[in-house]
Amino acid sequence: MKIAVLTGAGVSAESGIKTFRDSDGLWEGHDVMEVASPEGFARNPKAVLEFYNQRRRQLLAVQPNAAHKALAGLEKMHEVTIITQNVDDLHERAGSTNVIHLHGELLKARCSVNENLVLDWKQDLNLGDLSDGNHQLRPHIVWFGEMVPMIEVAAEVVEKADVIIIVGTSMQVYPAAGLVQYSKPSSTIYFIDPNPSISETKRIKVFSEKASTGVPKVVELLK
Ligand code: OAD
Repeated sequence: MKIAVLTGAGVSAESGIKTFRDSDGLWEGHDVMEVASPEGFARNPKAVLEFYNQRRRQLLAVQPNAAHKALAGLEKMHEVTIITQNVDDLHERAGSTNVIHLHGELLKARCSVNENLVLDWKQDLNLGDLSDGNHQLRPHIVWFGEMVPMIEVAAEVVEKADVIIIVGTSMQVYPAAGLVQYSKPSSTIYFIDPNPSISETKRIKVFSEKASTGVPKVVELLK
């Protein structure tokens, strides 16, 4: 069976990474357009680099949780593609081998002029850290107002999937939130989120609970 898994910040919440829009989420303490847009980076690159340095340091200190692990286990039985909005590497660390990052990756940096120059980057990223082209490096993150280069590949995966599992996303950010529209009418959708943004239908099964309990339940159903 072909399974597409769409994940958002909620899948990593129980690893200790804050979501964006829950109360006490990241966008409560930070102005999104200041830290996650090309204009914000142009205005205050130091503050933007520091915001992502904090996120990167935190990521290196946390571990995948039961939800990431259950999704990795699903690969033993089915053809699984994870399509994540998350910039962490917790799916990979849990063992998933087929992960599409729609919004970039925190452990990579790229040239702020030539976006094809991408480097692995685990330490802090500072002003003065330059690419081979001698330009400032920036986080390899898709910021608001920027293209989402992986969206077409992701849409094709969703189109072919027999089952779609959606975990921990408020479905507020496009084009990611629109991916589910590509699903074929015969597919089944499982939606796992303690505060689900869509309701149950014949085709959509909603699990109103945390990822660490809901995802293993769905994985069990698909065995
Ligand atoms: P949000 O913060 O918008 O939504 C998080 C979702 O996770 C909510 O629906 C919560 O109910 C749910 N949630 C919280 N705890 C959970 C748990 N333990 N288990 C399961 N679900 C839980 O995060 P996203 O939808 O991922 O983009 O946000 C999408 C994009 O907006 C992000 O990729 C980011 C942000 O701006 C960029 O930075 C480019």
